[in-house]
Amino acid sequence: MKARIAVLPGDGIGPEVVAQGLRCLRAVADAFGHEFALTELPFGGAAIDLCGDPLPESTLKGCLEADAVLLGAIGGPKWSAPEARVRPEQGLLGLRKALGVYANLRPVTVHPALLASSTLKPGILEGVDLVFVRELTGGIYFGEKRRDAHSATDVCTYTVAEVERIVRVAARLARQRRGKLVSIDKANVLETSRLWREVATRVMRAEFPEVSLEHMLVDSAAMHLIRRPRDFDVLVTENMFGDILTDEASMLAGSLGLLPSASLGEGTRGLYEPIHGSAPDIAGQGIANPCGTILSVALLLRHSLGLAAEAAALEQAVSEALASGARTPDVAASHDRALRTEQVGEAVLDRIRAG
Ligand code: IPM
Ligand code: MN
Repeated sequence: MKARIAVLPGDGIGPEVVAQGLRCLRAVADAFGHEFALTELPFGGAAIDLCGDPLPESTLKGCLEADAVLLGAIGGPKWSAPEARVRPEQGLLGLRKALGVYANLRPVTVHPALLASSTLKPGILEGVDLVFVRELTGGIYFGEKRRDAHSATDVCTYTVAEVERIVRVAARLARQRRGKLVSIDKANVLETSRLWREVATRVMRAEFPEVSLEHMLVDSAAMHLIRRPRDFDVLVTENMFGDILTDEASMLAGSLGLLPSASLGEGTRGLYEPIHGSAPDIAGQGIANPCGTILSVALLLRHSLGLAAEAAALEQAVSEALASGARTPDVAASHDRALRTEQVGEAVLDRIRAG
């Protein structure tokens, strides 16, 4: 098949991990006979440096015209002074909003070979297989922001329609999996959460009676996530809770660098990015874990291009590479066995080519 893919390397380790993602994407195209037209576009801090705008019009246009967007990471100390007028993060939020990708899927699985890489006990981790469905274009991220000399305000709003559509995405996913949905909120304090809970209950009763629904307060969910992670199947939550809980959940897998994400809206066009940030502390050293990005490429193949076999082959290649010991320092068995970003990419490539 033919597809157009917009590529936004971004800042910090973004370009380093995206380079490996692209090598894998090209290898998949070769192995399966596809033709992917890749267009690299400036985004984030890099775009601020270039033209003063983290999401230049030409970049947004390129993304809107593409079948899918692959993104590295954005941000860094250079652009994050408290008084900064434009921030790389505004570009990311603007892009998510403009693409209408309200559903952010963040799967978390524990690779058997990486059981010892986590700070948690292997016995707790074995068999963990869950997916977060994070609402991505609403809530406190997008509410009105005010600041004066004495105070600051961030407004959190959710509409009924926004909650309905995200709950439906999560419920459809749960139906294909183990039929268990946990909806996470703070209904004992927040009005938006009370609305969220009511709407989730109504949608699930009316449209998904075969999927079990449990409501959980976010503080309790943070605890249960590391106490009994195996019990979770699909978790649905609002934007900021999802942001925080998925960083926590990455420790189940062993490293923030391992987790991919897919952001989807109504059509098949999606935005794919690892859940980690630009990691300025290790940028330029060639030691960033490319697996989160490579696995995001797999999600892109599956969700936007409908290439399920290709996606599975790429995921399998990552699994085998990790199992063989091809690992960056964040998940390496020991310091002297750690490989560089490029070498891990190479190990995945070899397995794709070997078919
Ligand atoms: C993420 C990131 C972003 C978010 C930042 C960079 C704005 O942390 O994708 O999880 O908070 O959504
Ligand atoms: Mn985050």
